[in-house]
This record gives sequence, C-alpha cells and structure tokens, in this order.
Amino acid sequence: MLELLEGRRIVVCAGSGGVGKTTTAAAIAMGMAERGLKVAVVTIDPAKRLADSLGLVELGNEPRRVDGPFEGELWALMLDSKRTFDALIERLAPDEATRDEVLSNRIYQQLSSAVAGSQEFTAIAKLYELDQEGDYDLLVLDTPPSRNALDFLDAPGRLAGFFQGRAIKMFLRPAGLGGRILGRGTGVVFGLMERLTGVDLLHDLSVFFRALGGMIDGFTERARRVGALLEDPGTTFLIVTAPRHDPAEEAIFFHRKLRAAAMPFGGLVVNRMHVVPAMDGAGPLPSELGEDLAGRVATTAHEIAALAEGEAATVERLRAELGDPPIIVVPELAGDVHDVQGLALMREYLF
Ligand SMILES: Nc1ncnc2c1ncn2[C@@H]1O[C@H](COP(=O)(O)OP(=O)(O)OP(=O)(O)O)[C@@H](O)[C@H]1O
Ligand SMILES: [Mg+2]
Repeated sequence: MLELLEGRRIVVCAGSGGVGKTTTAAAIAMGMAERGLKVAVVTIDPAKRLADSLGLVELGNEPRRVDGPFEGELWALMLDSKRTFDALIERLAPDEATRDEVLSNRIYQQLSSAVAGSQEFTAIAKLYELDQEGDYDLLVLDTPPSRNALDFLDAPGRLAGFFQGRAIKMFLRPAGLGGRILGRGTGVVFGLMERLTGVDLLHDLSVFFRALGGMIDGFTERARRVGALLEDPGTTFLIVTAPRHDPAEEAIFFHRKLRAAAMPFGGLVVNRMHVVPAMDGAGPLPSELGEDLAGRVATTAHEIAALAEGEAATVERLRAELGDPPIIVVPELAGDVHDVQGLALMREYLF
C-alpha cells in the first residue's frame, strides 16, 4: 500500500456495489494517519455503525477529526450531495441576488436533488474542493454504490454535456420561454396549474433559467477541472473487488475504461477472500462431536475449500486481465467491519 500511495495526494477507491469500498477507504486513511500524514477520507453512505464509530453522527459536509492514536491526523466526512451542489452554486453565482434566487428556486431544488442524488459528480466536486484548499497531505475518496462503477468516471462529462446540451439552450434562447412555452395553450395550462396549486411554475422556470444562464460557462469549466483531477498524476485509483465472478468482471471492465481514459490505476484490492481450511494434518474430528455434527463440519470444510479454490481462480483471472498489477488481498473477517477496531484489523492486511 505504501508503495502504491507514494507521491500521491488523492486515492480513489472504486469498484462495484458492496465489495468493501467504504471500509477500504476508511482503513487506508487510518493507516496513513498512523504514519504521520494529515488524511481526510470522504465517505459515501457509510453503514450507520461505521459512521457512528468515526463520529460521523451528524450530517456535516466538512471533515471532522477522528480521535485515535495517530501520529498524524485522521479526518472523515460523510458526503452531503445537496450541500456540495449548493456550495458550487454559491461559488459560481455572479452576485448574492442571483445566488439566493437560484437556491430558493423550486426548479433548482428539484433539479439539484436529482443531480445530487446521483452522487457521482458531487463526490468528485467535493474532492476537488478539498484538494484546492490544500489542507491535507492525502485525500481518500470512497465512491458511490453505483450499479456500474463507470458512472463515476463519466459524471463530470455528463454534467458538462447537460449544460452544453440542446434542451437547456432552447430554454435560454431569448425567445425560448416566451415563444415556446407561452404558446397560447401552454399559457392556459400554466395559468390553471397556478390557480390549482398556487405555484407559479412558469415564473420559477424563467427565473431559474435566467439565473443559471450566467453560470453555464462557470459550470462547464468547473466540471472540466473536476474531471481533470481524475487524470492528475497525483491521483491513483484502487479497484476494490470481491473474488467472485460478477464484481471481478466489472473490475476488469472498469480497469479497461480507466486505461482508455488515461486515468492512473494503482492496484487491486481483493476483499473478503476465503482461505482453504487446513483439513489434512488437522487430524480426525473429536469424537464428542458425534457422527452427525462431525459429518456436517466435514461438509462445510469441503464447501469452503471449493469456494476458496474458485476465488483463487478468479484472482488469477484478474491478475492476467489487469496485466499483473499490484494485488492486495484482505481475507473474509470473522465479523462486520463497523468500528475502529474492525478498521484496524482491515488496515493490517492493507498495509
Ligand atoms: N474483509 C471483510 N470481512 C468481513 N466483512 C467485511 C469485509 N469487508 C467489508 N465487510 C463488510 O461488508 C459490508 C460492505 O462493506 P462496504 O460498506 O465497505 O462496501 P461498499 O463497497 O462501500 O458498499 P456500497 O457499494 O454499498 O457502498 C459491510 O458491512 C462491511 O462491514
Ligand atoms: Mg460504500
């Protein structure tokens, strides 16, 4: 791990859903804090108990310091997508009036929850913000539990595409709103809606697009820089995977995309490996077990052995497909990793 992180200021833990990205990210941050660095880990939807044990009880979009016997400092934050998106608007708005107009706009509130809900963009945006502030030696980014880890790589481009896209331009054309939406029929519909709901949707729409219009270039540029951060030589991607077929295939695919996008791949973390139980040489099972229980113990041992063999084959496939990358193996631990002790155990294997 230390070799993989040498000279990096950002490490991104990516991989398919449920493989251990969040716990790996937190354990890496802990390990580096122990080695004297000031580290911040940006977590996304951590399991509640893990969040509790890191002191991430309240939603706060700024890192909070985690107490512990660290030579350096460990800071952790739980990503708040909506707040990150709002902060971006605040930064890009040309003046306070525009800022308030956008933030209080109902269309914006709907749109921002939708965009923020996807988490992919806001995670990188937050990372960019922390990197710019330059308060930390190392930033560790956990990534969202997307069905497809690639959504994450595409996010900045997709958002930039949205702002450059035709839909939004149509609204922004001077005659756009008046001409198209205020066609007679539509005007009647909006008027009726306003009377029924008390919401002046048309007014909201026009205010929103007018205010946002001035920010499009800023947004596009920001999305571009946020995307560029992922290609930065100071960044490295660790692909986290489980030694099973589906996550491994996704890891292979993700690795290909990383290379195609010229993003820096550091290595592979294979999490939750089963170890072949030592059956030979263990001697016969104690007779107190009785025939029935002893039989079941033996069956289970054989099943685990078969599982472990299959997993080892998966790791070999990964090794071949990814071009013999650095691989760190973390075994299946006896219990969930939900507290600082659990993280410490995981950290032992990672480092
Ligand atoms: N090596 C391990 N041994 C045992 N349990 C583990 C191990 N690694 C992770 N876990 C457990 O597996 C669960 C999933 O881990 P984690 O939340 O880190 O995955 P994730 O990839 O972040 O998931 P998501 O995609 O939903 O965000 C957690 O309950 C965690 O405690
Ligand atoms: Mg997670």
